[in-house]
Amino acid sequence: MRVLQRVNESRKLGLDFTQFGWNADEYLKTGISMPEGAMDDIRHHYDAVYLGAFGDPRVPDMKHAADILLGMRFQLDLYVNYRPVKLLNPRLSPLRGDRKIDMVIFRENTEGAYVGMGGNFKRGTPDEIAVQEDISSRRGVERIIRYAFEFAKKTKRKSVCMSDKNNVMRFGGDLWLRTFEEVAKEYPEIEHFHMYVDALAMQMVRAPEMFDVIVTNNMFGDIVTDLGAALQGGLGVAASGNIHPGRVSLFEPIHGSAPKYAGKDVANPIGAILTAAMMLEYLGSQAEAEMIERAVVAAIDAGETTHDLGGSLGTKAAGEAIEKRL
Ligand code: IPM
Ligand code: MN
Repeated sequence: MRVLQRVNESRKLGLDFTQFGWNADEYLKTGISMPEGAMDDIRHHYDAVYLGAFGDPRVPDMKHAADILLGMRFQLDLYVNYRPVKLLNPRLSPLRGDRKIDMVIFRENTEGAYVGMGGNFKRGTPDEIAVQEDISSRRGVERIIRYAFEFAKKTKRKSVCMSDKNNVMRFGGDLWLRTFEEVAKEYPEIEHFHMYVDALAMQMVRAPEMFDVIVTNNMFGDIVTDLGAALQGGLGVAASGNIHPGRVSLFEPIHGSAPKYAGKDVANPIGAILTAAMMLEYLGSQAEAEMIERAVVAAIDAGETTHDLGGSLGTKAAGEAIEKRL
């Protein structure tokens, strides 16, 4: 917030902020994760939501997080989960050698295994059966694949890789592959290829330079973006956007709340700060977004970071190291 406020003031962006205290404390006190009418309020009165991290050991089922985070993804129809994987400094790479790591992962964000369809039959007995459905709609698959191609075109990227597991997940996979091939025809200038998600996990580590844009479903996207985060220096630096183009969208660092670090001034603020930059870009302030990214890169270059990136600063000081470079 300090970085956002500073850029907002110095560049006269005219952004107004409202803070909502929706969190585990509030949920434990009131049993309410998100007040009645809040979703409509967000839908009609805001341009973007900047989200902190969720997770608190006192709420083991993460009910408040599911209601708020997944609630917004689904109810605001934020179908694009935008997760860039960019190595900001070669020192941060966990891989040997000087590797080019600069890809963008688009994760479908409103369908798949996340829809919560299914059930437990004969629950709690030795005969229990659990069914968890994995939903893909033509409309849902097509819009995320098209978004990936449009992004590749706009940013002059060379290729789009679609990843799934259609050797086993036959029916959904069939729909994904047919849709991918059809949409790809509209973008003859962009290379396209398919890769099974297990192979993708291997190749992201073995040969990350082969990827430009990756598009995949909700669950596989969840998994490979954690891998992507590790490739760029860890969960502490990874940003993400939950986007419905042209509508109110949601921006959050990929990391969770890391309860074991709570109150210790050790967590890396970069994931949240780069998320703020991504949000500004979405709101049309490209130059300011780049300004923040440059300040982050400069702080990393100078070694003024938290411990996870090899520095010796606390959260607050690491944030200030970025703020002073703006
Ligand atoms: C993420 C998180 C969420 C997800 C959790 C907190 C529900 O892991 O944003 O990647 O699985 O989507
Ligand atoms: Mn995740």
